[in-house]
Amino acid sequence: MDAVSLKCQKLDKIKRILISEEEIRAKTKEIGALISREYQGKPLLLVSILKGSFIFLADLCREISIPCEVGFMCAESYYNGTASSGSVNIVLDLKQDISEYNVIIVEDIVDSGRTLSEVVKMLAGRNPISLKVYTLMDKPERREVDFKPDYALFTVPDLFVVGYGLDCGEYYRNLPYVAEYDCS
Ligand code: IMP
Ligand code: MG
Repeated sequence: MDAVSLKCQKLDKIKRILISEEEIRAKTKEIGALISREYQGKPLLLVSILKGSFIFLADLCREISIPCEVGFMCAESYYNGTASSGSVNIVLDLKQDISEYNVIIVEDIVDSGRTLSEVVKMLAGRNPISLKVYTLMDKPERREVDFKPDYALFTVPDLFVVGYGLDCGEYYRNLPYVAEYDCS
């Protein structure tokens, strides 16, 4: 990390690396291959939930060997810190008519479950051919609503994590790994 990055991202707030670059790469390859087999010959749309999933989407789509499209939604449920606001706002919606696609929602982390339960409800109402949720991480201990992703690459304990797309106050998204953040 260079001096400029160090000014904004206090690395003494990073307690430890929880998921390494290598672990993320290996799992993403595995899931990309699985999706490529499962959706062979089918119209596929990967829907990234911004902002947290942009890096996961970018890496995952490059491990998919069949044709696919990408789309973006922005759902905000967190204020600037580490506590949830409790409500979900869709601030950017998809451009595609999803009724002609098999849709995979690509998420960074499922925490309370509120964001995805709302997004899934909304997208299911638009009658996609199929709808699944793939998340990089799942934090099942924090669940507040009944929601289960179809696939979670990693299950993490009840910790606040940053890196690989996930932020704290908009910083740390560019760390190449997932780390435990010191909230104190
Ligand atoms: P929800 O509580 O499941 O609705 O999660 C909403 C969003 O909060 C996730 O998509 C993440 O972008 C963010 N989030 C949840 N847990 C963490 C975390 O530990 N670090 C950073 N962002 C998080
Ligand atoms: Mg997110």
